[in-house]
Amino acid sequence: MMDEDIARICFTEAALKAKVAELGKRISEDYKDAEETVYCVGILKGAVVFYTDLVRSITIPIHFDFMIASSYGNATSTSGSVKILKDLDFDIEGKHLIVIEDIIDSGTTMHYLMRIFRARKPKSVRLCALLSKPSRRTAEVAIDYCGFEVPDEFLVGYGLDYAGEYRNLPYIGVLKPEIYQ
Ligand code: IMP
Ligand code: MG
Repeated sequence: MMDEDIARICFTEAALKAKVAELGKRISEDYKDAEETVYCVGILKGAVVFYTDLVRSITIPIHFDFMIASSYGNATSTSGSVKILKDLDFDIEGKHLIVIEDIIDSGTTMHYLMRIFRARKPKSVRLCALLSKPSRRTAEVAIDYCGFEVPDEFLVGYGLDYAGEYRNLPYIGVLKPEIYQ
């Protein structure tokens, strides 16, 4: 059972649900008068669970798009290089972009992606991240909508994986260090 590999639950299903509702409400309020298309860009695969919950708590019209970026491999710390495995489908020039990510750790991935997005001249770009580990930051990233700040522990569940596993846990927990040591 996946549960046996979890040292401690950080955010229960109920806590995640409440936070997602709060973020969706803020976003809906902030973009209610937007005239240009609002693209919600999910960063696959980690953000997919958060993304699908969040978009259903947003009440204004939005469009979906996705990017697949990879900086991790199977390790528990970032390698520093970012690969784009799937780019956006849409031309975002003049549009509003809300980038939706699971976690900002060192910031390497998002710092890089934000530069790419801004270079495409959208009308606006904001970042919504469910989790942030500020103590790990080496690259600057401004988070416009942040769910929770978390300490430097390896978390899994609700989209977050270790070596591809645990993404389907409905809560977020700390992975027992013996699993990856
Ligand atoms: P960064 O480039 O170091 O900010 O790393 C961002 C990516 O690392 C995230 O999108 C996650 O895929 C992964 N990551 C960082 N911390 C964790 C964690 O605690 N659990 C699972 N994945 C993580
Ligand atoms: Mg990720």
